[in-house]
Amino acid sequence: MQIILFGAPGVGKGTQAKILAKKYNIQHISTGDILRDSIRNETEFGIMAKNLMNKGELVPDELIGRLVKEFLKSTDYKQGFILDGFPRTIEQCTLLDDIFDELKIENPHFIILESDTDIIVNRLTARRQCTNCNTIISLKHVKDASTCPSCCMEGTFIKREDDDEDVVRKRLDIYRKTTFPVIDYYREKYNFIFLNAAEPVETVTQNIIDRLI
Ligand code: AP5
Repeated sequence: MQIILFGAPGVGKGTQAKILAKKYNIQHISTGDILRDSIRNETEFGIMAKNLMNKGELVPDELIGRLVKEFLKSTDYKQGFILDGFPRTIEQCTLLDDIFDELKIENPHFIILESDTDIIVNRLTARRQCTNCNTIISLKHVKDASTCPSCCMEGTFIKREDDDEDVVRKRLDIYRKTTFPVIDYYREKYNFIFLNAAEPVETVTQNIIDRLI
């Protein structure tokens, strides 16, 4: 199972990708999580990316392309993977085409999650993420965020700096202008699966599973 999961910031890509990766026993490749891990580990790449991410801007295409290629090649990609957060520029599409050609990956499922801006802003300002295992929660659904339900670490949930409302709106603007055109780029190449991501998490998951059969 090879999946590209696409959509605006906060639409639920990370939430769904984690569930699907577990269900299908495939690798979840989140460029955002990889970058955040690099920042925590203070790698050269992380130090460079931190400022851009906190401002809601994209990190350079060439660097992110290299990162995805290395990550994909180091995993058992033939078993399957779910790409979350890449590609998000036309340049990244051409890089991904080259990676897929080299690894002989054809016809991945291309899932596009859709939701309204108001819902997204609401979700992102209430989101918390575990700094130890990247588990995502919403303060709207989980009242006690002191212990992570996945890794059982205490005090690891933080609000991402790019989840402040003004940064969220900037990210959404970049999505509309720079990332949305990716859909047109791939219109002739892949069959898209469009899904309403405003439904509850479980409903969205079930709708994805139904369409993957
Ligand atoms: P990244 O981490 O990829 O962020 P994003 O794409 O902006 O997406 P988010 O992680 O914000 O949202 P999501 O869709 O995963 O939603 P989630 O499931 O968490 O990228 C961050 C930054 O890294 C970028 O701005 C950029 O700087 C850099 N970067 C990353 N990739 C890059 C690339 N390819 N090129 C260049 N730069 C790159 O859900 C959000 C909240 O809603 C959670 O609280 C969740 O619990 C809740 N929720 C989810 N689904 C539902 C539902 N159905 N109902 C109710 N609540 C829900």
